[in-house]
Amino acid sequence: MPGTHHRLRRDLASALAEFLEPEEAQAECVRWFEDGLGLSRTWLATHGSEPVPEARARQVADWLQRRRAGEPWAYLLGWALFRDRRFQVTPATLIPRPETELLVEAALDIGQRLGVERCVDVGTGSGIIAVSLALETSWQVSATDLSPGALAVARANAAQLGARLQFHEGSLLESVPEPLGLVVANLPYVDPADQPTLQRELAFEPASALFAPERGLALSKALLSQARTRQAPACLLEIGSEQGGELCRWAMGLGWGKALVHQDFAGHDRILIALA
Ligand SMILES: C[S@@+](CC[C@H](N)C(=O)[O-])C[C@H]1O[C@@H](n2cnc3c(N)ncnc32)[C@H](O)[C@@H]1O
Repeated sequence: MPGTHHRLRRDLASALAEFLEPEEAQAECVRWFEDGLGLSRTWLATHGSEPVPEARARQVADWLQRRRAGEPWAYLLGWALFRDRRFQVTPATLIPRPETELLVEAALDIGQRLGVERCVDVGTGSGIIAVSLALETSWQVSATDLSPGALAVARANAAQLGARLQFHEGSLLESVPEPLGLVVANLPYVDPADQPTLQRELAFEPASALFAPERGLALSKALLSQARTRQAPACLLEIGSEQGGELCRWAMGLGWGKALVHQDFAGHDRILIALA
């Protein structure tokens, strides 16, 4: 005799609570039903006593096994929201983080103030920054990444969301033609020495999207240098929580006219803005 949807929901909530914090388990349970199975609360209120089809029960059991092993929910689902848009994510791409919205907001603000017409998103991953900027401005936006797998996902997201972008494959700015316009990037900035202490879910995301040599600073420093040499009007970076001071000094040493840091919701260094 198959169980009902009410029963499945109760069982799922307790199974998730075995390895997630209580609040997180509750929130995920709702997301599994609503986003994963496409069953709204309203549907559940009226059909909750109906038996669960076998394929649906198997699907939940499969997700649960993978989730218990630490795989992030966004990879099981295959998409994540960023600025209210749905972006495909795969294990070739980082999962969008809420902090990155601050980078997009800073780029919109600085780009508007400087009157830029172009912008390049370096290390585009799933394309969240480039697609958001292309859809929210009239700028010509290009996106670049070292990873062909990430670029394929970014291309699919741009097509799906109707964003017109130019794509380049290569390291930092090497394959991006001039003029650059605003340079925006959420490059890897995690210190490889921190790897053993990180959440186990991060092990499912590509290491090439997370870690950078030189205590996490190497790529940010290299991009600030390239963007300065190639006369970008500004370079905006998402950075690690304690990297602001060192990167500001680095930027000023490269001849940027001004460098400042914005903090995130938790009061940590998060966005570096270098202005020519
Ligand atoms: C932290 S992820 C950010 C992805 C996306 N921009 C976001 O905010 O979700 C960093 C991205 O930078 C790319 N990357 C790493 N090293 C790079 C390099 N030298 N040049 C260009 N892209 C690089 C990775 O492949 C990855 O997609």
